[in-house]
Amino acid sequence: MIAHSLRLKPPKLSKIRAIAFMSHALLENYGPRELVLSHGAGSHVYCEAGRKYLDFAMGIAVNSLGHCHPRLVEALTGQARQLWHVSNLFRIPAAERLAEKLTKLCFADRAFFCNSGAEAVECGFKMMRRYHFANGDPERKRIIALTQAFHGRTLATIAAAANPVHCEGFLDGDSGFDQVEFGSAEALQAAISGRTAGVIVEPVQGEGGIRPADPGYLGEVRELCRQHGILLMFDEVQCGAGRSGAFYAHQRLGVEPDLLASAKGLGGGFPVGVCLSRESVARPMTAGSHGSTFGGNPLAMSVADAVVSEICTEGFLQQVRSNGERLIGELRALQEAWPRSITEVSGLGLMIGVFLRVDAGEFLARLRREGLLAVKGGNNSIRLLPPLNVEREEIDEALAVLRRVLHEINHP
Ligand SMILES: Cc1ncc(COP(=O)(O)O)c(C=O)c1O
Repeated sequence: MIAHSLRLKPPKLSKIRAIAFMSHALLENYGPRELVLSHGAGSHVYCEAGRKYLDFAMGIAVNSLGHCHPRLVEALTGQARQLWHVSNLFRIPAAERLAEKLTKLCFADRAFFCNSGAEAVECGFKMMRRYHFANGDPERKRIIALTQAFHGRTLATIAAAANPVHCEGFLDGDSGFDQVEFGSAEALQAAISGRTAGVIVEPVQGEGGIRPADPGYLGEVRELCRQHGILLMFDEVQCGAGRSGAFYAHQRLGVEPDLLASAKGLGGGFPVGVCLSRESVARPMTAGSHGSTFGGNPLAMSVADAVVSEICTEGFLQQVRSNGERLIGELRALQEAWPRSITEVSGLGLMIGVFLRVDAGEFLARLRREGLLAVKGGNNSIRLLPPLNVEREEIDEALAVLRRVLHEINHP
């Protein structure tokens, strides 16, 4: 009866739009936002008013293959017609296939699927503790994280990164995490104690302003973990799944972890996360030790499988590397031309940070007015996160906008 009356009275589109614009029903945690994007294709999105934007924000490094990639649309709709969700009470062949694929691509032997980056990181934190517990060292519970890190917004992940803004009103006192300076092996060595379970590192820091870790430093971190019998986890939620120009960023930096969190770009826009680990770390995660209702669902698995296949096609990652190098090179030329505006350009592959002397928020607003979307980063930077399959001409288009805005700022 209800369904029948709903069918008889479909809601008016104009009414839905009006509610979307005026609603006070959402939590205000994201602050005010203006732009409503209505559809997208490839590297471009369109707002409701019809304006076209070149999207170098890509849902904050999520839409790795751009908007509505035909192969992903096909994977999603094909699976949607067949089976959406069954729960982990049943075997899910698509999850088994994707786990095989991902573990073959890197150091890992096992995969646990979840729905977001923070969940993947949390799973890794639990696995670090459980590993020592199972090996007769239950006191090893503390986890070391690095300054300027970001690992998500759950209680454990904000405790790890210890950003005071993110912790205010949620946490105080000791939550079982220690922080040491990013880039200092000496600081890490001094912080490791008999209660340390492991260390979490973003091989390329993202939210704090894009900064690739020095390979030498990462090697020292790896060696310290080995010497102390503690675990090394990489958070590749933002820099993973091809963004760096390798499938995982640590593969470009030459250092392997014991665990790895991956999400964002892995689903190309569909929510999915994974915690990958070595067999020895996975072994204590016996039946009942962890779980997720939605983790590994057929829809997410089908889309992620298509994303991984696309990223692994011959020449794809080479293209990410060469496009990244060109874009970084051109941005460094802009820095030389406009040193009063740009202080530094850093990045790996197509994960690029531009550190500014002018206000980053104002700079982003100017880019948007000129039709280019990018994302704010820490330390007064902006992040350029184009789709991994961005066209050369689209990079030129973005550079032209940046040149115009820099000229405008310097010749008011
Ligand atoms: C490095 C890193 N880790 C973890 C997260 C959290 O991911 P999610 O927002 O999917 O929980 C993010 C999100 O920006 C991230 O950049």
